[in-house]
Amino acid sequence: MDQANRELEALLDFYLASGIDCLLETEPVDRFLETAQLAERRMAGQVSRTPDRPVQGAGPAALQPQRPRMPGTDRTFLQSAHQSGQQPVSAGPAAQPLGGDPSGGGSSVVLPNESAVESARDAARNVSTLDELRACLDGFDGCNLRLTAKNLVFADGNPQARVMFVGEAPGRDEDLQGKPFVGRSGQLLDRMLKAIGLDRSDAYIANVVPWRPPGNRTPTPQETEICKPFIMRQIELVNPDILVFLGSASAKTLLGTQEGIRKLRGRWMKFSTGSAEISCVATYHPAYLLRSPLEKRQSWQDFQSIKKKLAEIPHNLS
Ligand code: URA
Repeated sequence: MDQANRELEALLDFYLASGIDCLLETEPVDRFLETAQLAERRMAGQVSRTPDRPVQGAGPAALQPQRPRMPGTDRTFLQSAHQSGQQPVSAGPAAQPLGGDPSGGGSSVVLPNESAVESARDAARNVSTLDELRACLDGFDGCNLRLTAKNLVFADGNPQARVMFVGEAPGRDEDLQGKPFVGRSGQLLDRMLKAIGLDRSDAYIANVVPWRPPGNRTPTPQETEICKPFIMRQIELVNPDILVFLGSASAKTLLGTQEGIRKLRGRWMKFSTGSAEISCVATYHPAYLLRSPLEKRQSWQDFQSIKKKLAEIPHNLS
């Protein structure tokens, strides 16, 4: 049985890696209408919020466990072929209701657009602790990645640590465990930390995008934009002495630059959270180092430089 489950899981993982992240039937099914109807039936008290078996014909969104919702984010995102591509889905300047309540209230289905980024900004602005931020992300349904992810991957390590690492997005192992950098690249990161006398209790680790993109594809620019206010707030709340961007995607997103990682790495800069200026540096992503072991030499230098910086700058006790 276990073997069969593992084989099935491997097959599904292969499908996801090939870009297949939703199942289609031979006849077209209007999932938006179904979702809206399900929401209406729920509001009328005809359907329990936690069905003990899947609702016949209901799409993945309808089968998601009910979580607390952030105000202004009560919408189901279009799961389209765009999810497996690199192009952002754009619906124009305003949210477009696709069914249900035409006023846009209630549980209408909308295409993701900049209003999702706006609601992420509002949500992130309104939290004042890391626990609140985690709960806020747990209830945020403005990012389609949560539909395919198994877990929210919020953070690992010590929120009081002097150094914070930010990666790009969780992979399969991280998704399964709900913790960042626990797979092969995480093991390499642990070894690199050890080389400068640190371990996870001396570091706080998070990602720009806290949900695994299906099949480990690159998050789309729009998914990244939606998640950015949350990681910005997470950095502000942790307020580390030193911030380390792991890889080009993290560095480019958070520094707002197009410069390549080869040029960026190893250069100390200042990162502004709005309330503080933090010394920051970019280095190669451990997954890249696994593929290009010769570059470990540069990473070694970057980590030595982090060690030196930690010794130089005063402890921020706030
Ligand atoms: N790669 C990342 O960027 N983050 C993780 O958590 C794991 C792998």
